Amino acid sequence: MKVLVVVGSPRRGGNTDIVLGNMADVFEGRGFEVNKVYLNEIGMRGCQGCMSCKKTAERCVQQDGMTPVYDLIQSSDPVLMGAPVYLWDVAGQFKLFVDRCFAFWERSYRGRIRPGKTAVLVTVLGQDNFKLGSSVSEKYVSLFRSFGFSRVEPLVLPGVNSRGAMLDREDHLAAARELAERVLEGIRS
Ligand SMILES: Cc1cc2nc3c(=O)[nH]c(=O)nc-3n(C[C@H](O)[C@H](O)[C@H](O)COP(=O)(O)O)c2cc1C
Repeated sequence: MKVLVVVGSPRRGGNTDIVLGNMADVFEGRGFEVNKVYLNEIGMRGCQGCMSCKKTAERCVQQDGMTPVYDLIQSSDPVLMGAPVYLWDVAGQFKLFVDRCFAFWERSYRGRIRPGKTAVLVTVLGQDNFKLGSSVSEKYVSLFRSFGFSRVEPLVLPGVNSRGAMLDREDHLAAARELAERVLEGIRS
């Protein structure tokens, strides 16, 4: 049993990292192996639009930091992802990752992710504006469903700005741990 954590913030130890770490602890406590990927640090290029993943290859032909992440996604359940809001969208590091997930679409736009798996998408933002966070999250939740995840759970956490401020938000952290418990139950049943 493996859980994959994908951190879309450049701030290691920042608010997104703290939430995802709390969630991963729930799984680690139940015997899951935890793998963590800091997107800012893996040396990942953007999608080159070559369309190889739709024509000759069934995966991205670029060899870089994203290459092992495809297999980690396929072999883990759940996949816990998170990104801060930057300028009314996800941070660029996470968008780059989403673009590279283009390889999870077949030519017919059917998802290639192994069926039956769950993903969580955490969205953290400085403004105390749940609606803004939800509007950012919604599109990416739909995208990850279209890549083939059977279940994608959003968690929007507004009103957290300075580095580490999440540590003072027991309400947010409790919601994150509760969601992790629910996902765990879903995977076991
Ligand atoms: C370049 C940049 C753009 C940002 N844009 C927004 C924004 O549009 N709306 C918002 O609510 N917060 C915005 N923020 C605040 C972050 O979402 C907030 O600080 C978040 O807690 C960062 O999470 P992290 O510690 O995981 O990096 C922005 C921060 C930066 C650095």
